[in-house]
Amino acid sequence: MTSLQKTIAILAGDGIGPEIMAQALKVLNAIETVFGYQFTYEYGAIGGAGIDESGVPLPEKTLKLAQSADAVLLGAVGGPQYDTLEPSIRPEQGLLQIRKALGLYANLRPVKAYEALLHASTLKPEVLRGVDMLVVRELTGGLYFGEPKWRTDDEAVDTMRYTRAEIERIAHVAFKAAQQRRGKVISVDKANVLKTSQLWRDVVEGVAKCYPTVELSHLYVDNAAMQLILNPQPMDVVLTENMFGDILSDEASMLTGSLGMLPSASLNASLDGSIGLYEPSHGSAPTLAGKDIANPIAQILSVAMMLTYSFNALEAAKAIEDAVDTVLSQGLRTADIAEADSPVVGTTAMGDAIAASVLSNAKVTA
Ligand code: IPM
Ligand code: MG
Repeated sequence: MTSLQKTIAILAGDGIGPEIMAQALKVLNAIETVFGYQFTYEYGAIGGAGIDESGVPLPEKTLKLAQSADAVLLGAVGGPQYDTLEPSIRPEQGLLQIRKALGLYANLRPVKAYEALLHASTLKPEVLRGVDMLVVRELTGGLYFGEPKWRTDDEAVDTMRYTRAEIERIAHVAFKAAQQRRGKVISVDKANVLKTSQLWRDVVEGVAKCYPTVELSHLYVDNAAMQLILNPQPMDVVLTENMFGDILSDEASMLTGSLGMLPSASLNASLDGSIGLYEPSHGSAPTLAGKDIANPIAQILSVAMMLTYSFNALEAAKAIEDAVDTVLSQGLRTADIAEADSPVVGTTAMGDAIAASVLSNAKVTA
């Protein structure tokens, strides 16, 4: 047994964040038991929790903790009680600031249709069957961060800016990922209108030359939005800039039946041995908080992504993915993925079942 020892910054955040994080830690504890790993958890406040604790969405000590940890596991941020705050200190800023501060420019959002959940989606099962794509979203540039950025009472400006270097590094991530998958990259832009997209397309074409075995195609973002629900099955790696990626990844999540199924990894280097932040792709869902009804699977699958990308613990990651498959095929469903009139389990019961499955699958294979 490898004796992996890692320190993980745990930033549960707001809303359902703490509840789903508790389930993820149960599963991580099961992984420690099975694989003989040792994880140390350091807890920090972010988002609304940061504002409550220190008046800002990313307290200095939380950032320090994240910088010194081997990986960061994040829940979700935001809540209605913070909506009246001045925009620069709202919870979402905590997320944007930590991404920028850690240089997490590569956001990976895998979208996989589970056979057991084909009927949970609003789309037809035959459209969803076999869907397995990876959205690679640029995370520290574009409209979110471009300067100038300002508003007055009557006018406002956001700036879409990209440099060649920013596009090159995210393109390399997408092509490398495609090499390990089905060898196809779809680059999404709006090159018929936007200058940034014209640069994006040229640079992506250039990077493609380093990856002769990967097939590159381009889609305009409006067409990509349509293709995602028309014919998602052929899509392998979808590469796109920050804002388009934000929108398309929410749309793509519906291919899995629920946003509650979608994990994500945000990395600051190429695909190996990098600093990473792992969080569900969904938000803090304040209306679900404290009711034991939220789906913890996106958070739990984010742990599997952490084991893969930050710790190279591939067997352990697979043990979690297998456990999720197992409980889903046993029929366990949280409310968001249940069919009408079928039995539903709560957040805690789902976490318990996945952790138990990690332990019992290990006994079977031992
Ligand atoms: C996401 C979220 C964030 C984003 C928000 C909360 C700032 O929607 O991670 O997709 O827009 O990046
Ligand atoms: Mg989003």
